[in-house]
Amino acid sequence: MFKHLTKITDLSKDEILQIFKDAKDLDYQYSNTGQNTSYFKNKSIAMVFEKPSLRTRVSFEVAATHLGGSAIYLTSSDILASGSNIKGRESIPDIAKNLENFTDIILARAFSHETIISLAENSHIPVINALCDLHHPTQTLADLYTIFDIFGGFPPDLKIAFVGDGCNTANSLMLGCDILNINFAIATPKGYEIPEKIFKLAKNNSCTVAHNPKDAVKNADIIYTDTWVSMGLENEFQQRLEIFKPYQVNKKLLSYAKPDVKIMHCMPAHRGEEITSEVIDSSASVVFKQSSAKLLIAKAILKFFTN
Ligand code: NVA
Repeated sequence: MFKHLTKITDLSKDEILQIFKDAKDLDYQYSNTGQNTSYFKNKSIAMVFEKPSLRTRVSFEVAATHLGGSAIYLTSSDILASGSNIKGRESIPDIAKNLENFTDIILARAFSHETIISLAENSHIPVINALCDLHHPTQTLADLYTIFDIFGGFPPDLKIAFVGDGCNTANSLMLGCDILNINFAIATPKGYEIPEKIFKLAKNNSCTVAHNPKDAVKNADIIYTDTWVSMGLENEFQQRLEIFKPYQVNKKLLSYAKPDVKIMHCMPAHRGEEITSEVIDSSASVVFKQSSAKLLIAKAILKFFTN
């Protein structure tokens, strides 16, 4: 029976750990032999992307190739979907019902979570959310895999602090930590918290909410940040820049965390805004290790959802 990944809570703790094991094995296999078992042989991904992408797009395309399959990248100029406020070429259900005739998995990046749900409800092949307004589950898997790899597992006192906007990346990371019982703290400006409907998806409530970044990063092993202006919110740029200024991840903020704190960012990073160059380029930063985990997780996702 196939399943979708519309949000990280579609996976259980055991399933997440299975994906991590597959990622590790596939990494080991590729590093040692220069190739992977063809788990995706003669299969194709339909990549429906309404927003731009560097890491997610390239990692999934390369993952498909390494596992013996292929990927087809479709932007809004190829297949403009009719959304709630967009007059497009065809409906989302029709797009899903066509793509399942040709391909084996749909990877979708959309403005609205409703689009992801509509694709999932109308297809008999797995739909993987590659980012929407509320969720970014493939990023969370890469993030938690990176942490798992660095710390050799998830020590019970491990603490992740997210500083900045209660956006898609923060939502999914909070939920991922909740599933795996990892201590998670978040500091956002008032009015930019993780939405209540996202908190409702959490079962263990292992998240601490703050407005002062110093409180969130106290005793943190990892400080994570993301852009203050997610894709689609560009018209709020100036206003957000002002509001989020006290939430910059800089050297001073690091001094309130553990001395060997690690810095994470899903990227693209905006140096001088949510993070300083000094911090993202420092030895504390693991952002490129995090980015390389995206390929391993993409391979593990293709194996997990299509075999
Ligand atoms: N929160 C960011 C993530 C980019 C990968 C955005 O939605 O633009």
